[in-house]
Amino acid sequence: MKWWQKTIAYELYPKSFLDTEGQGTGTIRGITQKLDYLESLGIGAVWLTPVCRSPMVDNGYDIADYTDIDPSYGTMEDMKELIAKAKEKNIRIVMDLVFNHTSDQNPWFLESKMSKNNPKSSWYIWRDAKEDGSAPTNWRSIFGGSAWTWCEERQQYYLHTFASQQPDLNWADEDVRKALYQAANFWVDLGAGGFRIDAITYIRKPDEFKDGVPDADDGMISVHDMTANTPGILEYLYEFKREVSEGHDIFTVAEANGVSADELKYWVGEHGAFDMLFEFSHVNLEFKGVETWCRPDPWTISDLKRALRNSQNATKANGWYPAFFENHDKPRCIDHYFPECSDPSSAAKAMGTLLMTLRGTPFLYQGQELGYRNVAWPSIDCYNDISSIGQYQFALSEGLTEEEAMKCVHTFSRDSARTPMQWDDTENAGFSSGTPWLPIHDDYKEVNVEKESRDPDSVLSWYRTLAEIRQEHSALISGDWTEFMKDDPDIIAYKRKNDEEELYILINLSEKQRTFSTESVTAEHVILNNKDTYEKGSLSPLQCVILAEKL
Ligand code: BGC
Repeated sequence: MKWWQKTIAYELYPKSFLDTEGQGTGTIRGITQKLDYLESLGIGAVWLTPVCRSPMVDNGYDIADYTDIDPSYGTMEDMKELIAKAKEKNIRIVMDLVFNHTSDQNPWFLESKMSKNNPKSSWYIWRDAKEDGSAPTNWRSIFGGSAWTWCEERQQYYLHTFASQQPDLNWADEDVRKALYQAANFWVDLGAGGFRIDAITYIRKPDEFKDGVPDADDGMISVHDMTANTPGILEYLYEFKREVSEGHDIFTVAEANGVSADELKYWVGEHGAFDMLFEFSHVNLEFKGVETWCRPDPWTISDLKRALRNSQNATKANGWYPAFFENHDKPRCIDHYFPECSDPSSAAKAMGTLLMTLRGTPFLYQGQELGYRNVAWPSIDCYNDISSIGQYQFALSEGLTEEEAMKCVHTFSRDSARTPMQWDDTENAGFSSGTPWLPIHDDYKEVNVEKESRDPDSVLSWYRTLAEIRQEHSALISGDWTEFMKDDPDIIAYKRKNDEEELYILINLSEKQRTFSTESVTAEHVILNNKDTYEKGSLSPLQCVILAEKL
């Protein structure tokens, strides 16, 4: 097995981790200072969301220079120090490659937009206006509004899948691809342990750009439905593999929503383009297609079980599963999966157990290990997240009241995942001596690293125990995954088995007391339990247990 299959990965949001400068935003030195903390969680890989030079319209997902550090985070020397110090602790630093688009302040775009015949004129997706001067197609960007913006200098429109400040690169141009591979190799040479590859399904555009049938009253259709996973995309991905990842001891994990199980073999695994692929069916249960916050569908625990079953089974033969329940784009998992929860600590522990015992590499997201909760700020003006603002405006345009639109923001805003780390109960939770860029969650006196480290029953202590158990029980890393009690509406149950042992994991994801037949559960030794007792054949609300046949 590879090192990254045996470890636990941590997604770190640098802007909110630790500020060493009193500026209100986190720094790379702050991460270096807290390596002991990451080590205490059993982490072997830290994925940093983008730290490259950026105007921060989308908090770094709008890159102005792929091989420079944004001054707010520090310097390249700080980065080198982080990579080296982390390595001493067996922690590898994983970079976020944002290759579908750049910032509109990137010198590549500044040059491209100047004329139709400069050396970089075809580096972005430029099109003439329709005869009436309107945008080339009726595509809506992911963050809301048209996916096209008019450029005065060039007298043409450019395409942006996300915000207008994030113009899409033209991957059909060989020079663009070369420049991107060069940037990625810069980080390989610097010692990066791998890459998370952003929004990769959008890089190939269709040959013809056509209007689509509108999916809302604004007369537009989501750009996702018109450009995601365009045939031919794999050619680029295999080229990326040849030019960047092959031959290096690194891993790649692509953000690739909507790749079906039968296509998976082309995307991941020995013959696929990447090592792992983040797919979203289990975190997007309420969105069958495009993620439209004001149109959620109801879902059940059976739907969650089905989504996990599908990806566990699909990755049995192809590739390796990156398990996650939170990331910087999603609400906090306690609120997401248990919106009316009366026992958040048990819910956090149940989700943590699921995360750490599925077959694959767990990706723990900053704050999840403390049992972080969503924020619900009173007005849209309090929000920083560009997508919350777009979704709020879209909800209003669909006829929702302000109150209803705010409810969508409270449920799904990405800012809930981005509030600063709560290190202790001092001012600003020990995150910064300046004014934090986003308010600290008001639960920080109770939910913080210092307090939870002292409490053996805390969510943080639970995660540390889970990390130890993964080390002690190799079946959790290399074992098969076999589900049982498939039809149970509340309990997810599975075995992890390798040559050495067989473990049973039983998690009651409901807030009901449940009994079940113990026929298929032959193990009796409790090695982990989030409640005081475990009675055979019965699980209390949100109870989770790991059972072994022998101790
Ligand atoms: C990232 C988002 C980002 C978007 C545009 C993603 O999917 O995870 O945070 O806003 O790509 O780069």
